[in-house]
Amino acid sequence: MANSGSGDSMTVRIVRVLETFSADRTVQTAAQIGRRAGLASSTAHRIVDDLVDAGLLERDDEHRVRLGLRLWELALRGSRALRLRQAALPHMELVQTRVREHTQLAVLEQEEALFLERLSHPEAGANITRVAGRLPLHASSSGLVLLAFASHELRERVLAAPLRRLAPETVTDAAALRRLLAEVRRSGYVVAAGSIEQVSTGVAVPIRDAGEVVAALSVVLPRGADPEVAIAALRSAARGIEAVLASGR
Ligand code: PHB
Repeated sequence: MANSGSGDSMTVRIVRVLETFSADRTVQTAAQIGRRAGLASSTAHRIVDDLVDAGLLERDDEHRVRLGLRLWELALRGSRALRLRQAALPHMELVQTRVREHTQLAVLEQEEALFLERLSHPEAGANITRVAGRLPLHASSSGLVLLAFASHELRERVLAAPLRRLAPETVTDAAALRRLLAEVRRSGYVVAAGSIEQVSTGVAVPIRDAGEVVAALSVVLPRGADPEVAIAALRSAARGIEAVLASGR
């Protein structure tokens, strides 16, 4: 790949352009992209034009661009995330019917919980998770499950770094978090009350594929709700999803 004057390859520059998009910043002009990606305006305009031609970005009437449907199509094709989501969806619907609250599927991605799917009930309470959104590992129920079963190295890295307080009850003390993670490994679930939002309780369980934890399944309950039905529904759904994954369907 040809290099720019700064030494970055074209691939690196394209990735920088794509990474300027976030959950909160979905529409931008080429000039804004250039500034945020640290690229010369002419370079940014050229890359954006090429990506629009390829369908990876889409341009609106005001000449602003967003990530294209073609990018979504390519990313999902044959991906692990899609396989997991398809195996999980019917079982998430069962949880949904029983618990009548939000139900989420998350995987570990670059030291955060990345949400692949979320089902909501019309009467469900608050929920800050978004599909393709992320939450910190130490402060969400899904994240706590993923962290509890992550590699020793990852767990130690998270425990050694400052643990940001997102709500009054976020566990920010490393020794307390270590004890909580051991308890999650022992019990096979977590009930995280007020960990990321004071008004909600997250409940999550692990999902295994070939013995390895590959995802977390969670529900978000109103704070103070009894978690027992949710725990039972999540456990039975996790077993169902694991059976689908094991069958290779
Ligand atoms: C959680 O998983 O702990 C969680 C997620 C989203 C919320 C509240 C709790 O809005």
